[in-house]
Amino acid sequence: MAMPSPRSLSGVITVPRSLFKIVVSAGGLLLLLILISFQLTCYPLISSFHVSLLPVEQNRKSDSAVLSGTGNIDTQSVNISVSLNANEVIQHTDTPSSAIYNDSVKSDLGNSDGVTLDINRSSFHIEDSTYLDSGNCDLYNGKWIYDFDGPLYTNNTCPVISPKQNCQGNGRSDKEYENWRWKPKNCHLPRFDAKKFLELMRGKTLAFVGDSIARNQMESLLCILWQFEAPKKRRKGKRQYFYFKSTSTTLTRYWSSWLVHQTTESFASVPDNIVKVHLDLPDEDFMENLSKFDVVVLSSGHWFVKQSAYILNGTLVGGQLWQPKGEGNMQIKNIDAFGISVETCLTAIASHPNFTGLAIVRSYSPDHYEGGAWNTGGSCTGKDRPLTTVVRNGFTDVMHEKQVNSFVNAVKKARVDSKLRLMDITEPFAYRPDGHPGPYRSPDPNKNTKRGANGEPPPQDCLHWCMPGPIDTWNEILLEVIRREFHGR
Ligand SMILES: *[C@@H]1O[C@H](CO)[C@@H](O)[C@H](O)[C@H]1NC(C)=O
Ligand SMILES: *[C@@H]1O[C@H](CO)[C@@H](O)[C@H](O)[C@H]1NC(C)=O
Ligand SMILES: *[C@@H]1O[C@H](CO)[C@@H](O)[C@H](O)[C@H]1NC(C)=O
Ligand SMILES: *[C@@H]1O[C@H](CO)[C@@H](O)[C@H](O)[C@H]1NC(C)=O
Ligand SMILES: *[C@@H]1O[C@H](CO)[C@@H](O)[C@H](O)[C@H]1NC(C)=O
Ligand SMILES: *[C@@H]1O[C@H](CO)[C@@H](O)[C@H](O)[C@H]1NC(C)=O
Ligand SMILES: *[C@@H]1O[C@H](CO)[C@@H](O)[C@H](O)[C@H]1NC(C)=O
Repeated sequence: MAMPSPRSLSGVITVPRSLFKIVVSAGGLLLLLILISFQLTCYPLISSFHVSLLPVEQNRKSDSAVLSGTGNIDTQSVNISVSLNANEVIQHTDTPSSAIYNDSVKSDLGNSDGVTLDINRSSFHIEDSTYLDSGNCDLYNGKWIYDFDGPLYTNNTCPVISPKQNCQGNGRSDKEYENWRWKPKNCHLPRFDAKKFLELMRGKTLAFVGDSIARNQMESLLCILWQFEAPKKRRKGKRQYFYFKSTSTTLTRYWSSWLVHQTTESFASVPDNIVKVHLDLPDEDFMENLSKFDVVVLSSGHWFVKQSAYILNGTLVGGQLWQPKGEGNMQIKNIDAFGISVETCLTAIASHPNFTGLAIVRSYSPDHYEGGAWNTGGSCTGKDRPLTTVVRNGFTDVMHEKQVNSFVNAVKKARVDSKLRLMDITEPFAYRPDGHPGPYRSPDPNKNTKRGANGEPPPQDCLHWCMPGPIDTWNEILLEVIRREFHGR
């Protein structure tokens, strides 16, 4: 997978940061003008910024976004009219880009909070229905750009945000992390269109299968869709479904920590309290109902750091945080075990006689515990914007590599008509340490959110994702993956 170049990111990221400061600062007409011109020319500015900073920025046409305003503009336009809410029309014949990047302007205005500029954005937003590619551009090679349109929902408009992911509700004071938009290099990833999603999924069932990050993604999707239609909750046995009446679309979720069979029954010398993970047997729980799903989104990886014993073909072959006494050589470690489990699960799905749907592997979700692990003082406290350069995480990299290899192996073995897809979000999301709850992981008003006397970080979650937050982008990508499949390229 090609990585977004840090150079191209740095240019883009510094711009919106200063702008954001301006936006939240006190106004004045000059400021308004600057803001508006930036809003209107967000893409153009970024493009021209690129041009000036970077020697190579080819293919600008396919990279540009179409803006709709009082008149359509393209990236070259400098004469822009825009309606404000107050029916005021401001004309603007040049882009004072230097002012926008002028640090002294920024710092002059950077200290007064609380002023909101209420600008009607509906008349100039990215033309979401416009696809600028034929459907085969690499969705995972791109960059994060600031999006003034903001998130698709808020903590107040979505009733199903888990308390642990309700970062705003839990007191997180910065909000900028909600506003970054993923921009694939060679095409435009449209803002989520709930109507379109439901239309594509008419009469169909989508199942999220996997760990707590599968739940995180499903809740994000529910929040997004909820803005368009409140689903009906249904229950069959112990299982909960969300049913969208307008298109008879069903969302559901299957818990599966490892995607393969697990048991606590006695096995050889393994103590009963240690989970036995059968790497060669797919998880029967979701496999039982697989043929009812039209789309399955698989999520796993992080449970391989937990204590367990690995069993392959009826033989104990390894363990994590557990060593048997005098038991053979335990050569399978957690990283290999992860690879085997992914291949087992995908192979079983692809060879299931009654499954005709689309199976999507959402690749390993990067965590951002810096300076330690989740339980050894790792921290993402204070991260409030995307990185310009990824801090490499050896574990993430090797888990991702294993997963991709297993995916490729499963595809090789699969029937030609089976539909296995990789949603390869690992690298783009490595840039988003700001998207995690950090210490704002619970509603407890007395929780510790500050570093201790010796600099030790408060307890925190740098693994799951805030809602709203960058995880919403997964569902924009998901919609695009589904669209490509059901609508053709
Ligand atoms: C800007 O556009 C307006 C309306 O289209 C036009 O009247 C005006 O002359 C233009 N100004 C410049 C400098 O091109
Ligand atoms: C930045 O702004 C200050 C005052 O606001 C001005 O004196 C200075 O010339 C500006 N610099 C640039 C590069 O525009
Ligand atoms: C924004 O403007 C459009 C038409 O220009 C109008 O229909 C809409 O109600 C406005 N939105 C707000 C929030 O004022
Ligand atoms: C949403 O977040 C705001 C802070 O941004 C908070 O005041 C409000 O209580 C939260 N609402 C819910 C339902 O969590
Ligand atoms: C599979 O679906 C049937 C019918 O909807 C349901 O009764 C059963 O509980 C489901 N199996 C699992 C493991 O959820
Ligand atoms: C599992 O055992 C069967 C025979 O019992 C053998 O054919 C197969 O190769 C074994 N698989 C692995 C992964 O060892
Ligand atoms: C596939 O469907 C057929 C017919 O409904 C059924 O007999 C068979 O058991 C199913 N196979 C699996 C693996 O579910």
